[in-house]
Amino acid sequence: MSAVETALKPIAAKAARCTACVLAETRTKVVFGSGSARAGIVIIGEAPGANEDAQGLPFVGRSGQLLDRLLTETGIVRDDVYICNVVKCRPPQNRDPRPEEVATCAPFLRAQLETLRPRVLCALGLHATRWLLPGKEPMAKLRGQILEYRSIPTIATYHPAAILRNPRLKDNALADLKRVREIAEDAAKREA
Ligand code: URA
Repeated sequence: MSAVETALKPIAAKAARCTACVLAETRTKVVFGSGSARAGIVIIGEAPGANEDAQGLPFVGRSGQLLDRLLTETGIVRDDVYICNVVKCRPPQNRDPRPEEVATCAPFLRAQLETLRPRVLCALGLHATRWLLPGKEPMAKLRGQILEYRSIPTIATYHPAAILRNPRLKDNALADLKRVREIAEDAAKREA
């Protein structure tokens, strides 16, 4: 096990026991996050859905299948990236996470990012984007540029659920993910 994986363990264990907000009452499993720190890419979604809640893993339902396809098309290997969510427990009926739930859960994501120290961040959808970079701008304005969270280059793009609703967003999401890959590769070269 890598040093990063070892360092994530106690944070995941704490999340698994967490009862700090009402989502603990209805969740099946805490979805802490999964993947590897190898590629230096961390992808952040919104919150677990029904499949994720059942399996304890992020992005394993319909959105996850689309994310897998987008990553493959971009040349990113899913097993090489780390994927997690703003909120670690499923909101009932897949409602939006409430501000107090996001705030209560924030120390977990903050600790993950401090431990993983990614070369690049990818925020899927506005919940993840606003968590990293509070503001009011719409995704159409935020995407397509390199943003920054605590000096980490950050790409915001459409959530796979939005692409499922509007497939015309797919090409832009692919372009954004390609940018994510390039940033990670460039940073790796500079570090070598
Ligand atoms: N949507 C998300 O934002 N996260 C998941 O893990 C699954 C669906």
